[in-house]
Amino acid sequence: MFVTARPQFKPTTEQLPDDLFAAINELKRELNAIVLAHYYQDPDIQDIADYLGDSLGLSQQAAATNAEVIVFAGVHFMAETAKILNPDKLVLLPDLNAGCSLADSCPPDKFAAFKATHPDHIVISYINCSAEIKAMSDIICTSSNAVKIVNQIPKDTPIIFAPDRNLGRYVSEQTGRELVLWQGSCIVHETFSEKRIVQLKIEHPEAEVIAHPECEPPVLRNANYIGSTTALLNYSLKSDRETFIVATEPGIIHQMQKAAPHKHFIPAPATNNCACNECPHMRLNTLEKLYLAMKNKTPAIELPEHIRISALRPIQRMLELSV
Ligand code: 13P
Ligand code: SF4
Repeated sequence: MFVTARPQFKPTTEQLPDDLFAAINELKRELNAIVLAHYYQDPDIQDIADYLGDSLGLSQQAAATNAEVIVFAGVHFMAETAKILNPDKLVLLPDLNAGCSLADSCPPDKFAAFKATHPDHIVISYINCSAEIKAMSDIICTSSNAVKIVNQIPKDTPIIFAPDRNLGRYVSEQTGRELVLWQGSCIVHETFSEKRIVQLKIEHPEAEVIAHPECEPPVLRNANYIGSTTALLNYSLKSDRETFIVATEPGIIHQMQKAAPHKHFIPAPATNNCACNECPHMRLNTLEKLYLAMKNKTPAIELPEHIRISALRPIQRMLELSV
């Protein structure tokens, strides 16, 4: 089994510039680099990004960029997807330990055995998975195009959907298709408390609940709108409501608040009083690590060529089916 090594990030004794923003902007010019960031990154990283988006938007940008260096402020599977699309470019991830509990919930050896028990099924995999799982898939999808992609598959073609059971269940309901689900999940999106969301709705009767489809059914049942991070952002801006209970990683609220300062965004609470609605993997990246990654041109994403080639095909399929 191929597992990408994720060495521990070692605190540095290197001198950091006083103005990290200016230093990163200078390195962007020197390296001909683009910084791609997901909405779950720290606000500082969001503010320095050349492109900020959801997993689909980030993949589309990675596929289209002319930059020589891609600095990926997100988690490992996202940077790996950029590398699969750009084998000749340097793809940097500020902290190689920035993994994903959902991707980790689908080990390639176990998934290969599962797939072998359904030989007549095609495999549609959520992009939140390793390159090895992508290499075993027919089509990749994200939370913003999963319904659209499943709807394009002939009705008599049976489908395995991996690795997120919550997104899979949601897609099944939306498309009326029976999907064989891999039982993976995201630690962040399973942490939201239905009870505390209902309490918030009572306290803020004017509020709308907006939720990511990685959430569990009791949370989704309380949602007025369900969508990817970009879709949630757009919905909150165009809605005439002023208050939103946001059931996804709260990093997205930075953009919501910037675009609509007069609106009120309440992060959906976790089952206890922890800050576990923040993705511990995404939050490993910091502005300091991003600067050092650019300055030292490491850590970089590498993967075996045979896996890259097999993983590229289903990603290209997704990009074709998403237009
Ligand atoms: P999207 O980027 O598709 O909204 O998914 C969120 C997520 O969990 C990324 O890891
Ligand atoms: Fe993975 Fe969940 Fe973090 Fe997204 S929020 S990167 S699915 S652990």
